[in-house]
Amino acid sequence: MRTSLVVGNWKMNGGLATNARLLDRLVSEWRPSEGRALTVCAPYPYLGQAQAALASSAIAWGAQDVSAHAAGAFTGDVSAGMLVEFGCRYAIVGHSERRHIHRESDVEVAQKAKAALSAGITPIACVGETLAERDAGKTEAVVMRQLGAVVEALGADLAKIVLAYEPVWAIGTGRTATPAQAQEVHATLRAELTKARAPNICILYGGSVKAANAAALFAMTDVDGGLVGGASLDADEFLAIARA
Ligand code: PGA
Repeated sequence: MRTSLVVGNWKMNGGLATNARLLDRLVSEWRPSEGRALTVCAPYPYLGQAQAALASSAIAWGAQDVSAHAAGAFTGDVSAGMLVEFGCRYAIVGHSERRHIHRESDVEVAQKAKAALSAGITPIACVGETLAERDAGKTEAVVMRQLGAVVEALGADLAKIVLAYEPVWAIGTGRTATPAQAQEVHATLRAELTKARAPNICILYGGSVKAANAAALFAMTDVDGGLVGGASLDADEFLAIARA
């Protein structure tokens, strides 16, 4: 049985007052019986706020990145062990903005996933091709290379991760992959995960998910939910996506 999950990725957005309003609405309006687990990934300074606001709710929270290292001279980084002390359940790793802006390699992303898991945090490992890569017919090769590094690093623990397919050309652009385009890549990823003995991993789609397109995307056989950026900052949109 695969779990369904919707994850809000706030990115570098928010403030104490706006977060409080958003979290309040999620807590008062989301019912766990609605068939899908819900998580918000806030910027580091607001994780304590998310922890407090969500404490008695069914909504989990997570970080948007985590260090590959346990401790030491890594100025500005945060370890999985620190996050878990506060009850952090998830950490996004390998988001395309980290891969591109911070030049994170496939191996580094895989090491981050490993560090998260060893502290008891579920990594949400992201893969996805750029528009140039898609146009050059390299989508499968790119996502397989990115996934391959994670498979190699995690071994039997692979079954404990969440995977997210996020085509870079669909992130924040308003240009969503069609349900068929998403399903095609998800099926390829699922086949590879099945070979690696992790067939039931939750595979999320991300990239301009909105209330208006969520149901069609989530209806696809291998799409188990969404990783939602912009629309997760709006309570009405995010709740509608979670219920889609
Ligand atoms: P978007 O972002 O929903 O704003 O396209 C998704 C993501 O980057 O995780």
